[in-house]
Amino acid sequence: MDLIGAPLDRVDGRLKVSGAAKYAAEYSLPNLAHAHVVQSSIARGRIREIDTSAAISIPGVLDVITHRNAPKLYPIQSNPSSRPGQTYLVLQDDQIRYYGQHIAIVVAESVEQAQHGAESMRIEYFEEEADTDLIHAHNQIFKPKRITTINAPPVDSSRGDVRGGLRQASAKLDLTFTTAIENHNALEPHATIASWDGDELTLIDSTQWVIGTRNLVATNLGIAPERVRVISPFVGGGFGSKGNPWPHPTLAAVAARHVNRPVKLVLSREHMFSQVGHRPATIQQMELGADQDGRLTAISDRVTSGTSQFDDYVEAAGTTARVAYSCANVETTHRLVRLDVNTPCPMRAPGEAVGNFSIECAMDELAYATGLDPLEIRIRNYADRDEDRDKPFSSKSLRGCYAVAAERFGWRSRPSASGSMKAGNLKIGWGMASAIFTAKLSKASARVTLEPDGSVIVSTASHDIGTGTYTSLAQVAADELRVPVSRIRVNLADTFLPEAPASAGSQTSGSVGSAIVLACRDALRRAQTSVPGEPIEAEATWTPADIQERAWSSYSFGAHFCEVAVDEDLGSIKVRRWMAAFAAGRILNEKTARSQLVGGIVWGIGQALLERTIYDSSSRIVNRNLADYLVPVNADVPPIEVILIPEADTLVNPAGAKGLGELGICGAAAAIANATFHATGIRVRDLPITHERIRSVRLFPVS
Ligand code: MOS
Repeated sequence: MDLIGAPLDRVDGRLKVSGAAKYAAEYSLPNLAHAHVVQSSIARGRIREIDTSAAISIPGVLDVITHRNAPKLYPIQSNPSSRPGQTYLVLQDDQIRYYGQHIAIVVAESVEQAQHGAESMRIEYFEEEADTDLIHAHNQIFKPKRITTINAPPVDSSRGDVRGGLRQASAKLDLTFTTAIENHNALEPHATIASWDGDELTLIDSTQWVIGTRNLVATNLGIAPERVRVISPFVGGGFGSKGNPWPHPTLAAVAARHVNRPVKLVLSREHMFSQVGHRPATIQQMELGADQDGRLTAISDRVTSGTSQFDDYVEAAGTTARVAYSCANVETTHRLVRLDVNTPCPMRAPGEAVGNFSIECAMDELAYATGLDPLEIRIRNYADRDEDRDKPFSSKSLRGCYAVAAERFGWRSRPSASGSMKAGNLKIGWGMASAIFTAKLSKASARVTLEPDGSVIVSTASHDIGTGTYTSLAQVAADELRVPVSRIRVNLADTFLPEAPASAGSQTSGSVGSAIVLACRDALRRAQTSVPGEPIEAEATWTPADIQERAWSSYSFGAHFCEVAVDEDLGSIKVRRWMAAFAAGRILNEKTARSQLVGGIVWGIGQALLERTIYDSSSRIVNRNLADYLVPVNADVPPIEVILIPEADTLVNPAGAKGLGELGICGAAAAIANATFHATGIRVRDLPITHERIRSVRLFPVS
């Protein structure tokens, strides 16, 4: 009875399609009041006047909270138990530090009254010139002290002699890649319901990290974490924007205190563009050198990204070039530029999605420069070990991914010259790219209870952020205990349950899965000596070895192959076909795994062709809605085939899972950019590759 990997339907599928699965904003409590936030309409300056009288006089409005009457909040710094989205505390002073900063909360009997109140606020500013454009910003570039994401990679890296490697190269490339600001745009808006019972606070919140949210809110309010309970039973997508907790759960708690009633605070789509993080814009200067056989002699990747005026968030794109290929001479750097925007945050495959784009496009360019097939040049530069950390990989089945996906795609019949495939007025191109994503691991705990009636309860403060965790973790327990999945109930996302890390960084299967494996094994041991008729309870914590101490290095891998059709007159790029293969250790559920990978590829289509957050000359966000911020719709997405390459990894963790939630987007945008070049001979190194970009190159060829 091998239950692991079986493509089981989601155990919560029926609840979801019938609307019975409740998301944070769908809860109601007796005597519930509603809050609506007011955001700044300038990007930099001070509040000159904030007149709440009109808002207060609206029937149903209960209170308006601004920096003038908000309670003192206490700051929190980034640490493993809470990485706040921003350290800047809102509603504490008259400063405006980014467009769309929360500057007031209106609390009312109804949502409509709260919104009406928010619209009735009269606010005047002292406005200052702001910088929001990475490329044209006036501020100095600086070196950050550290990278704060899970597994915290070093800021810079260097091995060998890059200048020497470039001197001996027979093919040299010096390329600049740029990528746009993107917003996560989870379908479910961020929302919190706060209710006080004496000095005990309960938050129903949409979060990827109940423990982190609890720790932030408790610190902000100056109360003990034990006084705060956070639950988040269902989450309608987060993609990183709900991983680092933002100010609104604290504001909901403040509002509930002010009106002495439970308060529901739901952010609007527009609010989310400025207040729950974004993927920052990046500039990557990448130099590659190769000998006449196409073997890399040097890689240099210098990354610059934007951050806020008060936090140093690093988009760690250079980490990919450190390990993706075998090369003796590699250097990578990360630098920041301060902008008048809120702090960026992880967004699906933070750093690595952008890093995969640049190295995978650069490798494609190197293939043309050396006259090699794009797949062949990757195989010639295959890294058999992690040359950055000088350790073996815990597992790596990338060769298998290349072979199987290339065969199924029909890559062998690809004509090597660009512009050689046509269909009517369309130019057809085939492109490929590798995918690599760090296996991130954190300490996690879980409790397993064997009930006398044969049912099993698995409890952990992890989350199902739409990924299928309720199902896949039940399969882990079913497999260890050798009982049917139907007998397992999984309880998640409650700070009263055993601690689990943020459901981010694709770390849940490996980290929480391992805690469940250990708890199940302990429960079975206890069962041998237990009293019949009594429940058996076992709780376990799995702690990964410190990353420096590990004898191995761990990444998930994959390979993308795609076909595009380009209409050069219209500038449109249509992705027509996709074949990808991935290897990520043990797959817990083939169906949910496949969904994650397909979803990641769809994100790659968005990143390649559509997504960008646009600021106008006054530093306001122009396209802060889903009509103007473009994401792929069904018509943009071709049939996507995903092949899972079987892989056993006995080193990475007891669950054997390396994670794949963020693997699918890695390399996907590069495959599209490379296919576009193959179709047209037009090389675009700036994302997204818009219609206008293709048309302008076509109409005004430069070289
Ligand atoms: Mo993720 S971007 O670490 O939720």
